[in-house]
Amino acid sequence: MKNPFKFGTIVEDEFFTDRTAELRFIEHKLNSENHVILISPRRFGKSSLVMKAVKTSKRPFIMLNLQKVVSVQDLAGNLLKEVFKLYRWEKVKHQLNHFRIVPTITTSPMGDGIDVMFQPASNGVVELEDAMKTLEKVSSPEKRLVVILDEFQEIMSIGKGLDKQLRAIMQLQHNINYILLGSQESMMTEIFERKKSPFYHFGTLMRLGKIPFDDFHAYIVERLAPVVGTDSESAAADILSITDCHPYYTQQLASQVWELAHYEHVHEGIVDIAVERLSDIHDLDFERLWIGLNKMDRRVMQALCSMTPNLPSITQPTSTIYSTVNRLMKKGYVIKNGTYAIEDPFFKRWIIKNRL
Ligand SMILES: Nc1ncnc2c1ncn2[C@@H]1O[C@H](COP(=O)(O)OP(=O)(O)OP(=O)(O)O)[C@@H](O)[C@H]1O
Ligand SMILES: [Mg+2]
Repeated sequence: MKNPFKFGTIVEDEFFTDRTAELRFIEHKLNSENHVILISPRRFGKSSLVMKAVKTSKRPFIMLNLQKVVSVQDLAGNLLKEVFKLYRWEKVKHQLNHFRIVPTITTSPMGDGIDVMFQPASNGVVELEDAMKTLEKVSSPEKRLVVILDEFQEIMSIGKGLDKQLRAIMQLQHNINYILLGSQESMMTEIFERKKSPFYHFGTLMRLGKIPFDDFHAYIVERLAPVVGTDSESAAADILSITDCHPYYTQQLASQVWELAHYEHVHEGIVDIAVERLSDIHDLDFERLWIGLNKMDRRVMQALCSMTPNLPSITQPTSTIYSTVNRLMKKGYVIKNGTYAIEDPFFKRWIIKNRL
């Protein structure tokens, strides 16, 4: 029997649950000339959702994570690389004739087979313009290309004025739907909601939440039942109360519970034992994270481990507490979903056990 839970990479098919309204929403946008901006904390399921939506739409798409891009030239090169991967070389090679600066293209049988590079000589403006024009040219009104840019907030650090430059090109395109994803809430809001930003109201903004309890509960029960039996209802409820319905951690914990039941025939206190295991497995990572935090960070993290939903009374000025919380949110240790909470339930368990 195969473990029916999956975590860490994009989930599809039998591993994917819920998100019906979100899928419909993206589908509608793709059937128009509009764009989608999708924001959520890390590992809430942005990539999985978008992949499912574009695959269902049967439209050609390219996906690029801007965290992997180091310069404007590199962005131009990577966009072209994705185009060359998607369309047949014969269909797109003549596009290169129009390039004012011609990239070096290398092919190799290893990896994904093709590499496109521009010499890092200029500021990359011309290269990016030509690459973006190619996107529009290879696309067609009947089968418009979908361009997904992940961790979009990175444009602010890839090149000075890149936001302005990109926006100027994008607004002239008609055959492309952009889906722009980001996990840095404050930077994404700044890019799309600040009136002076070039991307102000560029598309419809959607915030992805956690998966609703009822749906996730049914999903877990169905998969745990063959190994956990009649206790699977309460085990699923325990799992969700610990992970607070966070998609990634829920799948991780459910996967651990399934293994304990299937391979070790554990019954009594199975969810607690699974949490213990996971926080022990990550002991070294947590230790390292903890060492990297300053005193004030640690106090806030400790405070967030206590049961009170709001930030408890740390004897510090409120402004200091909130700037600490904001820093911790930027680093991804704390998330805000109504109230502030420690992002990783196993790190939380580790802090309670070792540092309180
Ligand atoms: N619809 C879903 N149904 C079930 N599990 C899901 C779903 N969406 C996400 N998950 C769980 O969350 C994990 C992370 O999903 P995904 O990589 O899509 O999130 P992300 O927001 O793109 O993450 P990142 O911030 O790392 O890019 C998946 O591996 C899976 O375990
Ligand atoms: Mg992702």
